[in-house]
Amino acid sequence: MAPLLLLLALTGLAVAAAQFPFPPPPPPPQQQQPTSASDAAALSAVFRQWGLGYAATATTPPPEDPCAKKVWFGSLARNASINCSCDVSFLPCRITHLNVTGYQNLTDIPPALFSLTELVSLDLSNNNLIGQIPPGIANLSKLETWHFNNNQLNGSFPNGSSGLRSLQSLWMFDNYIEGTLPEFIANFTNLTDLRIYGMKLQGPIPKNFSNLINLEKLMLGDLDGQNSTFDFIANWTNLSTLSLRNCGITGQLPNMLSILLPNLTYLDLGSNNISGSLGQLPYKDLSLYLGGNNFSGNLPSEMVQSSRLMDVSYNPFLNGSLPVSPGGQKLSINYIGTSIDASRTTNSENLALLDCLRMKGCKSFYKSLITSCAVNCGGKQTTYPDSLPNIFYDDTSDLGAADFHINTDGQWVVSHVGSDPLSNSSDGIVSTSQGILGTDTPELYQTARTSQSDLWYYVVGLSMGNYTVQLFFAEIVIEGNFNNRTGRRSFNIDIQDQNIKTDFDITKEADGFRKATNITYEATVDNSVLKIHLYWNGRGTHAIPYEGAYGPLVSAIRVFPPEIPPNNSPPPARPQAAPHDNKRRGVVAGIAALCIAAAVISSSVVYLWWKWVSLVKHPNA
Ligand SMILES: *[C@@H]1O[C@H](CO)[C@@H](O)[C@H](O)[C@H]1NC(C)=O
Ligand SMILES: *[C@@H]1O[C@H](CO)[C@@H](O)[C@H](O)[C@H]1NC(C)=O
Ligand SMILES: *[C@@H]1O[C@H](CO)[C@@H](O)[C@H](O)[C@H]1NC(C)=O
Ligand SMILES: *[C@@H]1O[C@H](CO)[C@@H](O)[C@H](O)[C@H]1NC(C)=O
Ligand SMILES: *[C@@H]1O[C@H](CO)[C@@H](O)[C@H](O)[C@H]1NC(C)=O
Ligand SMILES: *[C@@H]1O[C@H](CO)[C@@H](O)[C@H](O)[C@H]1NC(C)=O
Ligand SMILES: *[C@@H]1O[C@H](CO)[C@@H](O)[C@H](O)[C@H]1NC(C)=O
Ligand SMILES: *[C@@H]1O[C@H](CO)[C@@H](O)[C@H](O)[C@H]1NC(C)=O
Ligand SMILES: *[C@@H]1O[C@H](CO)[C@@H](O)[C@H](O)[C@H]1NC(C)=O
Ligand SMILES: *[C@@H]1O[C@H](CO)[C@@H](O)[C@H](O)[C@H]1NC(C)=O
Ligand SMILES: *[C@@H]1O[C@H](CO)[C@@H](O)[C@H](O)[C@H]1NC(C)=O
Ligand SMILES: *[C@@H]1O[C@H](CO)[C@@H](O)[C@H](O)[C@H]1NC(C)=O
Repeated sequence: MAPLLLLLALTGLAVAAAQFPFPPPPPPPQQQQPTSASDAAALSAVFRQWGLGYAATATTPPPEDPCAKKVWFGSLARNASINCSCDVSFLPCRITHLNVTGYQNLTDIPPALFSLTELVSLDLSNNNLIGQIPPGIANLSKLETWHFNNNQLNGSFPNGSSGLRSLQSLWMFDNYIEGTLPEFIANFTNLTDLRIYGMKLQGPIPKNFSNLINLEKLMLGDLDGQNSTFDFIANWTNLSTLSLRNCGITGQLPNMLSILLPNLTYLDLGSNNISGSLGQLPYKDLSLYLGGNNFSGNLPSEMVQSSRLMDVSYNPFLNGSLPVSPGGQKLSINYIGTSIDASRTTNSENLALLDCLRMKGCKSFYKSLITSCAVNCGGKQTTYPDSLPNIFYDDTSDLGAADFHINTDGQWVVSHVGSDPLSNSSDGIVSTSQGILGTDTPELYQTARTSQSDLWYYVVGLSMGNYTVQLFFAEIVIEGNFNNRTGRRSFNIDIQDQNIKTDFDITKEADGFRKATNITYEATVDNSVLKIHLYWNGRGTHAIPYEGAYGPLVSAIRVFPPEIPPNNSPPPARPQAAPHDNKRRGVVAGIAALCIAAAVISSSVVYLWWKWVSLVKHPNA
C-alpha cells in the first residue's frame, strides 16, 4: 500500500513539475527514524563498556537517538562514529557501520557488539584490544569491511568467521593471532583487499586462495611453519598490489606472471626462498622488491629500465651487468649482495668494496684497517674533539626506495629498501628542530634515517677483534607519550646476523617522544665487516598518525674498540634522573670524572695511532 501511495505522490509531483515552470516546493524536512530499540541498547552497552560518550544506562534511555547523532567526538585523532540504514526495508533504523579506532585504552570486546547483526562495516583498528576474537563474530554475517589490525588480539582466528562470505575488505595485521592461515578465507570470494601480516600465523598459503579472483590488494607476510609455492596465484585481473614478504615461498616465479596479473603496479616478494630467473617479469612501471631470495641468472636489462624501482639485493647468484639508464638519469636499483657487475657505474675502489660485501672478505682491499667509525644517520657531519672516533660522518644522501651509498672514505655503506605500497612514497630522512631530552648531544638525534622496511649499515675495513656497537635512537616522528599516542613504531635489529631486538619501540624504551635512548652491544668482527640491519616485521601502526610512519628509525651509529671507556663524549643517552637520584648522580659524576681523565690520556694515544693509520691509508690526505 505504502509504495503505491508513494508512487502516486511522485507521479503527482512529476506532473506538477511539468505543468509549472517554477521549481516544486521543497519536500518537508525528513523525520529521523528512531534507531531500533535492540540496536540502541546494544550500542549503549558497547559504549558503556568502552567508557565512550553515550550516557544511556539500563534504566535511563539515551539522551539522543544514535542514528541521529552518528558521531561521538573524542579528540582530533579519534572519534567514534556509526552510520545507519533507514531504508523502507529496515523500519526502524538499523546500525550498519561502526568505527571506533585509535583509542589506546580500549582493551575488551563487549559481547553486545555481536547483537548489531546488520553491521556491514566494523572498524576497530588501532586500539589495544586483547584476548581472543569471540566466536560471536559469526553473528555479523553481513560484514563487508572488517578491520581489526593493530591490536593485541591472540588465540586462533575463530572458525565461526568462516560464514562471513560477504567480506570485501579484511585487515587483521599486527596482532598475535596464531595457528595456520585459515583455508576458509578462500571462500570469501568477494574479497578485494586482504591484509594478513605481522602475526604469529603459520603457512602454507592455501592453494585454494586462487578462488579470490576479485582481489585488488593482497598483502600476506611473516608466516612461519610450512613453506609455500606460488600455486595459489591465479588469473587475478584486478590485482594491483601484491606483497608476500617473508612467507617461506620456495620454487620459481609462475610462468607468464604478467599474463595472470596484468594490472600489477607493486610487487614485493622480499625475504623468501624463490629461485630461478627473473625472466617472468616483463612489467612497465612496477615497484619491484625481490631482495633476500635465491634468484640466479642474468639481470634482464629491459626489466631494470622499465621498472619504477627495483630491489634485487641479497640474491648472491644473480649476475649480469647494470644497464646504462636510458635518459642518463640515476636508476633506482639496489643490487648490494649480488654478483651483478657494476663496473659501468662505480669506480674501482667501490667495486672492490661491493665485492667485499659479498662476504668475500675485505682485507686485501684495505691497505690498513680502521678500529672505529661513527655515522650521524640522516644528518650532517659532526665532530666531537674528545670522542673516539671524533667524526660522525655525514649521511644525507637520498636513497629513494631502493639504493645504497658508499661513503667517500670507503669506511661505511648504507643500504635502503622500502616504500609505502599504497602511496609509493618513501620516508628516507626525517628531522626536527625541537629539543631532545636525555642527552648532551641532541644534534645527533635531531636527524634520523627511516624506512618502510629495511636499512643496513656496514662498517668496512675493521681490523679483526671485538667492538662495542652503539645505536642512538629518539622518536621524532610519531608524537605522544607511551600511554596516549595513537601511532606506534616497531622494528627488529640484527647485528652480525644475530637478532638483538624484536619489536623495538623507541618511545617505550626512551619513555617518551623526543627522548634519547641508546643500545650498546658487543660484536666480533673477523672478516673486516660489521653489519647492522634494522627492519620492519609487520608490526606497528601504518596509517596513524598518517600513512607511512612505520618501520625502523635510527639517529646515529658508533663503533669503537671495547677497551675505550664508552663514557667519553658524546655520552650514551642517560635516563631522566628522578629527584631522589641526586646522591647517585654525585657518585656517577665522580666516576665519570675519573673516566674522563683516563679517556683523555688513552684517547690521545689512540688518536695519534688512528691518525697514523689514516695517513698510511690515504697518504695524500
Ligand atoms: C578511554 O579514553 C577516552 C578518551 O580518550 C575516554 O573518554 C574513555 O572514558 C576511556 N575509556 C575507558 C574504558 O577508560
Ligand atoms: C574527529 O572529529 C573532528 C571534528 O569534526 C575532526 O576535526 C577530526 O578530524 C575527526 N577525527 C577523525 C580521526 O576522524
Ligand atoms: C558514514 O557515512 C559518511 C558519509 O558517507 C562517511 O563519511 C562516514 O565515514 C561513515 N561512517 C562510518 C562509521 O562508516
Ligand atoms: C574509521 O575512521 C578512521 C578515522 O577517521 C578512518 O581513517 C578509517 O578509514 C575509518 N574506517 C572505515 C572502514 O571507514
Ligand atoms: C591472550 O592474551 C590474554 C590477555 O593478554 C592472556 O591472558 C592469554 O593468556 C593469551 N592467550 C594466549 C593463547 O596466548
Ligand atoms: C546474535 O544475535 C542475536 C540477535 O539477533 C542475539 O540474540 C545473540 O545473543 C547474538 N549472539 C551472540 C553470540 O552475540
Ligand atoms: C577450526 O577448524 C579446523 C579445521 O576444520 C580445526 O582443525 C580446528 O580445531 C578448529 N578450531 C577451533 C578453535 O574450533
Ligand atoms: C558478492 O558480490 C556480488 C556482487 O556485488 C553480490 O551479488 C553477492 O551477493 C556477494 N556475495 C556475498 C556472499 O555477499
Ligand atoms: C567453503 O564453502 C564450501 C561450501 O560452499 C564448504 O563445503 C567448504 O567446507 C568451505 N571451505 C572451508 C575451508 O570452510
Ligand atoms: C623451507 O624451505 C627451505 C629452503 O628451501 C628449507 O631449508 C626448509 O627446510 C623448508 N622448511 C620446511 C618447514 O619445509
Ligand atoms: C583471465 O581472465 C580474464 C577475464 O576474467 C580473461 O579475459 C583472460 O583471458 C584470462 N586469462 C587467462 C590467462 O586465463
Ligand atoms: C587496473 O587498475 C586500475 C587502477 O589501478 C583500474 O582503474 C583498472 O580498472 C584496472 N584494470 C583492470 C583490468 O582491472
